[in-house]
Amino acid sequence: MNDVDSYRFPSDFFWGAATAAYQIEGAAGEDGRRPSVWDTFCRIPGKVFSEHDGSVACDHYHLFPQDIELMKSLDIRHYRLSIAWPRVIPDGDGSVNRKGLDFYDRLIDALLDAGITPYVTLYHWDLPQALEDKGGWRSRRTALAFDRYARTVVQRLGSRVKNWFTVNEIVCFTKLAYELGVHAPGVKEPPKIVNQIVHHALLAHGLAVRAVREFAQPGSLVGLVANPSVGVPAIERPDHIAASRLFWDRENAQCLAPVFLKAYPDWWLAEQGPDAPITEPGDLDIIASPTDFLGLNIYSGTFVQPREDSEGYTPLPLSAQYPKADLAWLNVMPQALYWGIRHAVEAYGVESVYVTENGAAYADRLLPDDTILDLDRREYLRNYLIQVQRAVAEGFPVKGYFAWSLMDNFEWAEGYSKRFGIVYTDFLTQRRIPKLSARWYSEVIRQNRVV
Ligand code: FCB
Repeated sequence: MNDVDSYRFPSDFFWGAATAAYQIEGAAGEDGRRPSVWDTFCRIPGKVFSEHDGSVACDHYHLFPQDIELMKSLDIRHYRLSIAWPRVIPDGDGSVNRKGLDFYDRLIDALLDAGITPYVTLYHWDLPQALEDKGGWRSRRTALAFDRYARTVVQRLGSRVKNWFTVNEIVCFTKLAYELGVHAPGVKEPPKIVNQIVHHALLAHGLAVRAVREFAQPGSLVGLVANPSVGVPAIERPDHIAASRLFWDRENAQCLAPVFLKAYPDWWLAEQGPDAPITEPGDLDIIASPTDFLGLNIYSGTFVQPREDSEGYTPLPLSAQYPKADLAWLNVMPQALYWGIRHAVEAYGVESVYVTENGAAYADRLLPDDTILDLDRREYLRNYLIQVQRAVAEGFPVKGYFAWSLMDNFEWAEGYSKRFGIVYTDFLTQRRIPKLSARWYSEVIRQNRVV
């Protein structure tokens, strides 16, 4: 019998793991870093599970050399991290903190020395509190301050970092934060203000694209990281597929159409009426600045079937028994990854896609022999990766995949109660223990196929 060779990936496909600054770094008051909106939000009673906060987190600020060794030992050669704006420009728009930039310098150098390629996200939700005090994302000035911050970071790291992500998940740091109030700063603004906030976030993205073009070395790549709502056809046949695409177009209109189609759709503007955002001349040109890839964070989706009306689709409810990971929103739906990639390519003509996050929280147990047998996470990841492989095999331009997350960390409003890592973090001792899923993922990387 020949060696088994199914689910193979192209030889230039890259495999990585992802984290974000506030979720792992800790050292919240060190070397000149000032508070972000998350430091403030964590202190509001009832907002974050058990009033956890990111002041220590995984202490990666001090332990990064060993975390890099850990990645090496798992054969992870691509790493997505984020830079903390409040370390680099602690007041958001004031003076640059040399020590903050020095930290990222050391981190990037250590990664490169270890043969690990850094992929840098400029904004993963940690807005300097001083800017929130001046209006935060409600104010256009925040997008302009972000432009200056992005230029500062790219000028300093751009000789060594070649892969840039502008902002992570606009939907989360605008709507969850300023409409639903469940993420920092935790307020509930009316639709007119929320739409303006989203517009400023889109503008920040476009300005960062231009900063990379201007200051990074030639050949550097830049793109957005989005968390689109993904419609999955309930039955894979043309009418259901068309319905799932209608769902995509509608659900993602506000955050993705401006970037890829250079306009808010007319029907969307009509629906907003007087709540539509105010745009200045040239804004859409900035927002739609050409990018090199689209980063997709996909964990779940929505089953859709066709409906005979102007909308053309119905999102389907899930039964109480439908499989979930350890979070209410985390319905296990592997095909969402395939359809997310396919809809993005078909809707916008995106020429390159990175899966920038995918993973699952499960209630891990550390066994007496120091192992974590997270077969649930292994199964989740494996089933989703099979869908990535399907997309690749059908010719969709997926170039790489990052598991969320390298290690258990501060899961926003869930605090430390939800574990997404493929490596276990003991938060009392800061010991890291690779879970079974990490050992499995390592083998996927080694064989370059889903094992
Ligand atoms: C995404 C975030 C990431 C992580 C995962 C579980 O929305 O980008 O920081 O918390 O969810």
